[in-house]
Amino acid sequence: MAFVSDDLFNEICMSNDIIDYASSFMTVKKNGKNYMACCPFHNEKTPSFSLDRDKQLFHCFGCGASGNFVQLVMRLEALDFKDALQSLAERANIKIPENGRRESDAVTRKKDSIIEMNKLAARFFYDSLMNPETGRDARAYFSARKLSKETIIKFGLGYAPNTTDALLKELKDKGYTEEQIVEAGLAVMRNGKAVDKYRNRVIFPIINVQGKVIGFGGRVMGSNELANGVKIPKYLNSPQTVVYDKSSNVFALNIAKNSNTRRLILCEGYMDVISVHQAGIPNCIATLGTALTEQQTRLLMRYCDEILICYDMDEAGTKAALRAIDMISAAGGRSRVIRIAGAKDPDEYISKYGVSGFKTAIEKAMPSTEFKLSLIRRKYDITDTDGKVRFVDEIAQCLAGITDSVEVEAYIKKTADETGISERAIFGKYSEHKKKSPGPKPDRTKEDYKRRAVNLINSEKPKEDRVSVAVMDAERKLLSVIAKSRRLCIRASELIEPDEFSNNIYVTLATRMYDSAKAGNQIDEAVIVNEFSGNTDAENIAAAVFFNNEEYTDNDKTLYDLIYTIKLNRLERRMNEATDPGEIFDLIKQKNKLISDRKEWQIKT
Ligand code: UTP
Ligand code: MN
Repeated sequence: MAFVSDDLFNEICMSNDIIDYASSFMTVKKNGKNYMACCPFHNEKTPSFSLDRDKQLFHCFGCGASGNFVQLVMRLEALDFKDALQSLAERANIKIPENGRRESDAVTRKKDSIIEMNKLAARFFYDSLMNPETGRDARAYFSARKLSKETIIKFGLGYAPNTTDALLKELKDKGYTEEQIVEAGLAVMRNGKAVDKYRNRVIFPIINVQGKVIGFGGRVMGSNELANGVKIPKYLNSPQTVVYDKSSNVFALNIAKNSNTRRLILCEGYMDVISVHQAGIPNCIATLGTALTEQQTRLLMRYCDEILICYDMDEAGTKAALRAIDMISAAGGRSRVIRIAGAKDPDEYISKYGVSGFKTAIEKAMPSTEFKLSLIRRKYDITDTDGKVRFVDEIAQCLAGITDSVEVEAYIKKTADETGISERAIFGKYSEHKKKSPGPKPDRTKEDYKRRAVNLINSEKPKEDRVSVAVMDAERKLLSVIAKSRRLCIRASELIEPDEFSNNIYVTLATRMYDSAKAGNQIDEAVIVNEFSGNTDAENIAAAVFFNNEEYTDNDKTLYDLIYTIKLNRLERRMNEATDPGEIFDLIKQKNKLISDRKEWQIKT
């Protein structure tokens, strides 16, 4: 794990503020000494995600997600340890020395080289666009699409010249092989020869949340139908590479995430997003030519609570919107639908009705349920009795999927007014459907989490070694008490060996804490937790130790009680398993000794 020293690790973490950092992903509220938010790692409505500014740790009392600052960055931004630490170092303007780098494996090297090639390619495309000769037609195209110079710069738009090897030459000059360039998706093989993939197209770089160019989209200038009637692809996009996956990345999220609105506008195309941004609306994004995926939704929910879906109003767009609504709701988010009647897409809408027109459309965005109901309404003729019955049935089915009972009631009332069927009858139908659907899962509780942690620990052990929730809880509390006091830590080290803890994670924590206390050092929670980086379950269990918010009236007595409980349980577990009378006798002796020792401990202090 050690790829930087503990000191440098601390410096990097302490030069950033975990609350500040977390606030760009979630709404963080101060609550006493701690900061609370709704957990980004599970679906919940009441905040149980706690952040400790001083220790730079996080812990969710609901799902048990827990760790230090770097581990939070790893999980929120899907980075590995090295990249997460690097990203925090960059935020704080700290340079990690070369020798502090872990030898990167083959994949890391490949990723780095593709990102580097992409960066060079983006620069090359931009320069070609700005080249007075080469870029003339492309500039004219963008200008016909009403894009300003600022917009072009902001999105790093470019132009791939009409040659077969301009970019290839450029990258080969920089030392890359044809094979690498093809692997990066920047060239393709034609009749056994590598040629530039993008030729005579305007270029849209795709940039991830970390600001790295991971791929490109290249559009033909003008119509994609040739004079002879043959159609060529309107856009050519990067293939899947080690850095680019169209189903887990989102276009323009690198810009939109800074809009500080907790709301995102989801469009279908690159051009839509760019027009909306140019209109002064900075929170617009798009998927990369596919329907919204679960991965993308999870990524988006880190940056917003509500998504305004702004798809084309045709059948395909409507279908896609319905899918997106369900996807967002399953991820715990809210959504509304922006309707852009009179234009095929937001880009055209802005052209036709201006920025103010589009802003009005945003304000009038329809709540998703109402949108769904309006589509159902269109399908039936409710002047006809049979139509009315089937209409009410489908409405009731749709409402059965909604968790908010006030919302359900409001729509039942509305449907009753509309059809003349009584609210009671509609409610009856709704209840029928509700029974059939499994319904949402309730928020997880602290007890669920403890049980899961114990199951996880026990799953690796032989039956006789398994511990109960109560024992693991006692061990966790003991570790949390000694983390707060060097004196109590030393005292514990005299009474209970690390090996007496029931699992390897706690054994390691006890060993590390004893060592620092004995060396006269402050216990450094965040550094100790690094020991477990890369194993999410272990990180969770380790860091949770430092989030015991119980206050004890007498810490010394608590310490002794906990040590006693742990030791007694250990002995009793062994007694239950023992069959040899000699061994049982010995264990009874040990138990009696423990009882008398306990009295001694108290007196000694
Ligand atoms: P659109 O056809 O709506 O494109 O496709 P657009 O972005 O509005 O572009 P203009 O206005 O015609 O210039 C929506 C998105 O679908 C993907 C692209 O991501 C595009 O932005 N797409 C579309 C492709 O990947 N390939 C295609 O051939 C077409
Ligand atoms: Mn368009």
